[in-house]
Amino acid sequence: MQAEEVFQDNAESWETLIFLYNSALKEVGTKLEILNDEFVHIHRYNPIEYIKSRIKSPESICKKLKRNGRDTSLENMVQYINDIAGIRIVCSFTSDIYRMAEMIGKQNDLTVISVKDYIKHPKESGYKSYHMLVSVPIFLSDRVVDTKVEIQIRTIAMDFWASLEHKIYYKFEGNAPEYISRDLKECSEIVSMMDAKMLQLNQAILEAKAKQEMD
Ligand code: GTP
Ligand code: MG
Repeated sequence: MQAEEVFQDNAESWETLIFLYNSALKEVGTKLEILNDEFVHIHRYNPIEYIKSRIKSPESICKKLKRNGRDTSLENMVQYINDIAGIRIVCSFTSDIYRMAEMIGKQNDLTVISVKDYIKHPKESGYKSYHMLVSVPIFLSDRVVDTKVEIQIRTIAMDFWASLEHKIYYKFEGNAPEYISRDLKECSEIVSMMDAKMLQLNQAILEAKAKQEMD
């Protein structure tokens, strides 16, 4: 594939970079687990349902660089592709998303580079998620390298929607029939309604439980 051609002259640098991104995923993944465990320890409650992480494939990196009109070089990849290391945090409730985002923002050794709140401002497609681009220092034997990780935080319902939309987008290569895009958009409104309703329901359950314990 083209990616290998592009990167074969630089095989060693390519491998070093991927090693860094993998290390960054480990660092951030462990931080998230600790935050979740601490939360369970204090509040007896699990803000994270599950976490998925991945390294972008060389093919996708090349494609994205070309799509953005840039040469496929290691320098451009490091500078312009922000989601080579990606972590997705899936929560039950929208409130958990903001709770996680706040906890991540307070971690002293993470630098938040940018935040995109597609929950308050959904995309035209109906896409919703909370995105944070962070950098984490990777301590090697002779230097420290700040490495970028894209964190996406969503509810289970948002994740369900995004996976289906992603599949459809790829099936039609971005040219899905109008009625399918329309139905998807409608589904995204149902997702928001359900997320709001589930949050309300959860609060009602907690209140009822607290009241029962007082009686
Ligand atoms: P790319 O979308 O990756 O080109 O970068 P960007 O700078 O536009 O960032 P953005 O925050 O828009 O998107 C980053 C990532 O979010 C993407 O790689 C996808 O994983 C996810 N994403 C963004 N928009 C959509 C969408 O409309 N549908 C789905 N399924 N995923 C999306
Ligand atoms: Mg985008």
